[in-house]
Amino acid sequence: MMSGPDSNSKQSCFAGGWYSWGLARVLITGVAGFIGSHLARALVERRDEVRGFDNFSTGKRENLAGLADCCPEVVAGRDPRSENPDLGHLVGGGFELMEGDLRDAEAVRAACEGVEFVLHLGALPSVPRSVREPRASHEANIDGTFNVLEAARTEGVRRVVYAGSSSAYGNQPGFPRRETMTQQPIAPYPVQKLAG
Ligand SMILES: NC(=O)c1ccc[n+]([C@@H]2O[C@H](COP(=O)([O-])OP(=O)(O)OC[C@H]3O[C@@H](n4cnc5c(N)ncnc54)[C@H](O)[C@@H]3O)[C@@H](O)[C@H]2O)c1
Repeated sequence: MMSGPDSNSKQSCFAGGWYSWGLARVLITGVAGFIGSHLARALVERRDEVRGFDNFSTGKRENLAGLADCCPEVVAGRDPRSENPDLGHLVGGGFELMEGDLRDAEAVRAACEGVEFVLHLGALPSVPRSVREPRASHEANIDGTFNVLEAARTEGVRRVVYAGSSSAYGNQPGFPRRETMTQQPIAPYPVQKLAG
């Protein structure tokens, strides 16, 4: 049977089985990074339920400031989409942080539980770094992406959106880059992004 949290609760919007007016349940990997943190804020503000996943290797906790306070307010009412609409619904977006590493397959699987969409931004995104530390960047960008795809399949996620990189087109002339251009990755990072 479905159950709703009490009205003072700040518990996770993913806690299980309750309904919301939010648009979608989304996992953002790399949520503490530049793009991920802005994306999380935008989605929470439009009332999506967002779970963030990060190991804070390059991301910053301060990027997430205030997001955790955006948990949904539970109000009495009816959710017409619910099998039992008298249980009430949630209003407002929600955010929860799951600290974990993309290289940890079980952690990634757990992060995908109950999620409809994965926005996979988690990566070590630097060409020089990938040359300097090829193993670290390979493990985060290739193995990590594999773990996300496998977990999404296991958990029945509807769609994974992946952040590629224009670095995959190398140093050839022509801006903006277009997907019809020939791929010319010339360093580990572009190769990794292309593989994803
Ligand atoms: N910023 C750009 O101009 C740009 C351009 C092209 C592609 N991208 C891609 O967009 C994505 C986000 O870029 P960004 O600029 O926000 O980078 P960012 O470094 O600010 O964010 C990446 C996040 O991933 C996290 N992360 C790294 N390794 C991890 C691991 N093993 N487990 C869990 N989390 C891990 C980091 O802590 C960080 O919070 C990346 O995939 C990047 O390749 C960015």
